[in-house]
Amino acid sequence: MQIARTKEELRAALAPARGRRIVLVPTMGALHEGHASLLRQARELAGDQGTVVSSVFLNPVQFDNASDLATYPQTPEADLDVCRKCGVDVVFMPTPEVMYCPDRSITLEETHLSTVLCGAKRPGHFAGVCLVVNKLFNLVQPTDAIFGKKDYQQLAILRRLVRDLDIPVCLHGAEIVRGEDGLALSSRNVRLTPEHRAAAPTIRRSLLAAREAYRAGKSASEVCAAVVSTLEAIPGVRVDYAELVDAETLHPQTDENRLALLAVAAYFGDVRLIDNIELTRS
Ligand code: PAF
Repeated sequence: MQIARTKEELRAALAPARGRRIVLVPTMGALHEGHASLLRQARELAGDQGTVVSSVFLNPVQFDNASDLATYPQTPEADLDVCRKCGVDVVFMPTPEVMYCPDRSITLEETHLSTVLCGAKRPGHFAGVCLVVNKLFNLVQPTDAIFGKKDYQQLAILRRLVRDLDIPVCLHGAEIVRGEDGLALSSRNVRLTPEHRAAAPTIRRSLLAAREAYRAGKSASEVCAAVVSTLEAIPGVRVDYAELVDAETLHPQTDENRLALLAVAAYFGDVRLIDNIELTRS
């Protein structure tokens, strides 16, 4: 496995791989089993002849909250071990100084899907994600890239980025990986207090209950209100949003026959967790 810390090292590492499949898994590090599953899928997709690239870069530009960035876990040595075990060929591990020019002046804003859900709550977040992912696409020039569906909105926005900018890459969405108790794996989970870690699987339980209630005919607002009251019954928990939207437009539903998405973000103390579930009426 090669480790590239500069753009020049990355280009050199990838030169022999051009012309064959290159599968990119962008990450911010603090890799857990969810990332490992993305990396294994990348290895499978690339096959013996292709190349798997993982980026490990805590992208400051996508953080709307300074303390979230400051407390985001960083485990570079363990991350390299995970990459090695999952068959990654090249790890790109730049610093912010390597990644960004100090006087950078281009922004990249998606203006429709980003106005709702996390985008409405975290100003500038998705512009930062689009900027870094677009840079990674330019640097790596992957044929394929894999993103997890826990960040459902992120995946939808990145599909728009690829479509609207004609970026020649095929995006793959990977299913959410959960602990045995149902909690979606997240790098932020390690920051939960023991009490909140024990209570956090309630998010998944409330989404499963919502799916049943929606199937049984409850309205979108009834379903969302039930999720909010279940979660806010836990001491120290505040729901940032719980919204039922059209799964494709991410905006309020106009047709209940289409696939719906129930997305939730909740603060357990100062740790913000997200999760989602797709819903249908029958
Ligand atoms: O999902 C993430 O971890 C990040 O948003 C990404 C896609 C690696 C961009 O920094």
